[in-house]
Amino acid sequence: MKLAIFGADGAMGRLIAGIVAGDPEIQIVGAFTEPNAPTVGTDIGVLVGKKATGTMIGDSTGLDKKIKACKPDVAIDFTVAKATEENAPVVVKNGVKMVIGTTGLSQEFMDDFKLLVEKHNAPSIVASNFAVGMNLFMKVAGEVAAALEGWDAEVIEAHHNRKKDAPSGTALTIADVISKAWDKKLEDVAKYGRPKGPCPRKKGTAELGIHAIRAGDIVGDHTVLFAGPGERIELKHVAHDRSCFASGAVKAAKFLVASAKEPRMYSTREVLGV
Ligand SMILES: NC(=O)c1ccc[n+]([C@@H]2O[C@H](COP(=O)([O-])OP(=O)(O)OC[C@H]3O[C@@H](n4cnc5c(N)ncnc54)[C@H](O)[C@@H]3O)[C@@H](O)[C@H]2O)c1
Repeated sequence: MKLAIFGADGAMGRLIAGIVAGDPEIQIVGAFTEPNAPTVGTDIGVLVGKKATGTMIGDSTGLDKKIKACKPDVAIDFTVAKATEENAPVVVKNGVKMVIGTTGLSQEFMDDFKLLVEKHNAPSIVASNFAVGMNLFMKVAGEVAAALEGWDAEVIEAHHNRKKDAPSGTALTIADVISKAWDKKLEDVAKYGRPKGPCPRKKGTAELGIHAIRAGDIVGDHTVLFAGPGERIELKHVAHDRSCFASGAVKAAKFLVASAKEPRMYSTREVLGV
């Protein structure tokens, strides 16, 4: 499998490069970062403390030519929303499959990307969380929400102080699962944070509180709290380190290359086997 990594020198990109550099089934043929990054020109294998791969980190300018030259089967992207929205269309237009983990992407991009995937026969996946346990957590949260009619629910997430978007993409996906289980649209039930002052829940109206904490080096905590009369349930997922996301993304890339035959967007349930 020939792989390109976008955000190769970022926290996620380095982990992914570290996993695949030791995998005999995978060859890193492209490694991209932002223009003027100090890592440009460094061998991606050397950057992550492994053997040299012969693939130097490049910037993502003039990307079409670079993708045509290195011909990956699949690309993994963990960058920033602006970069993904610029780079991903160029990649799929070349028929290259994509695993996108970047969060904060616009709905407009998602709609256009889906059409490009179908048109250029590049089965791909975009997911806010590639951890196997979190994907099971989402399934369970949906089932609990559907079973507990009339209970209040709140989603609380905590992440490191460098995180650019809030609330996390994962919290939004969890909130979307819960609102669907309630047969509602997320935009009709979501309440982002609670401002100072009177802010009671409206009786008889579905409301889903969503709260973000940004502190220290927290990798990623997500709690869903369901509260009914006299009792509550808390579901909690804690990511101890980012390797759970990185290994899930590599698993997804392998799935797309080996098994995804239809020109469409795939889901984490399909590619992670949850
Ligand atoms: N889906 C998941 O499971 C999951 C897990 C963890 C993080 N994330 C998301 O992944 C993204 C990256 O997270 P991180 O912690 O690795 O961030 P990071 O800041 O450590 O890395 C971001 C990388 O993007 C690169 N970049 C910026 N502009 C670029 C461009 N134009 N072309 C190519 N590369 C460019 C930067 O150079 C950097 O290497 C975030 O959106 C985060 O929310 C998703």
